[in-house]
Amino acid sequence: LGHTGEYHDLIGSTNDRAKELAANKVPEGFLVSANGQTAGRGRLGRSWNSPPGQGLYFSLVLYPSLPPVELPRLTLLAGLALAQALENLGVNVQIKWPNDLLINGQKVAGILTEIAAEAERTIYAVVGIGINIEPLDEEVKSSFAYPATALKEHLPGVSRQSLLAMFLERFEKLYEEFKKGEFAQSLTEYKKRLAFLGEEVMIITGDREYIGVLHDLGEDGSLIINDGNTVKRFAAGEISLRRK
Ligand code: BTN
Repeated sequence: LGHTGEYHDLIGSTNDRAKELAANKVPEGFLVSANGQTAGRGRLGRSWNSPPGQGLYFSLVLYPSLPPVELPRLTLLAGLALAQALENLGVNVQIKWPNDLLINGQKVAGILTEIAAEAERTIYAVVGIGINIEPLDEEVKSSFAYPATALKEHLPGVSRQSLLAMFLERFEKLYEEFKKGEFAQSLTEYKKRLAFLGEEVMIITGDREYIGVLHDLGEDGSLIINDGNTVKRFAAGEISLRRK
């Protein structure tokens, strides 16, 4: 992964560009990276603040021959790979399900996976990652929906190149296993880093809020919440999770 790719000084969104390229069948693992984005996008229709030089913004094109329902797992793998890469550099991270990375409870990176599918067949998947690298000023910090931090606040000497290389190496390994049907081991590793496990959380879906204890993850990567009376499962989709 990442052996072919293109770099942009400034682009709208690396995810949009990667989707365009995926529709034209660039090779698997094609990497689109940028120094800045003018229309960076986050989950749930949010925008992703991407000033030039401030962060690491990139997207990977994949063609997993798996049914679309299994693809949320891919986004968990990307979160795990990024967590492992950051640990390798010496910083401890937690994963806020499904795929935000936290350092000391503050968000340092987010992942936006987008797929194109036809009936039960996946055409392509684009995994987009944004990592806050340079220390954030207060205005930018307050533009985030969640308390934010930046990697250099914890690892002043971090190199973007080595972080990206390490992520690609980890993700490639997890992705190869995943394509062979091995997901359980990755899920175990993911759970070790799961934020708020055993704590009271709030789940916000389109039209409802649920409060309960974050009990576990299902074998498919879904979130299991126990509100004292019932146990509910949530698939990674259009929902967000907060500590209560
Ligand atoms: C989130 O936390 O909601 C996900 C943020 C994902 C941002 C990255 S930056 C690179 C790629 N291009 C985009 O437009 N978004 C993703």
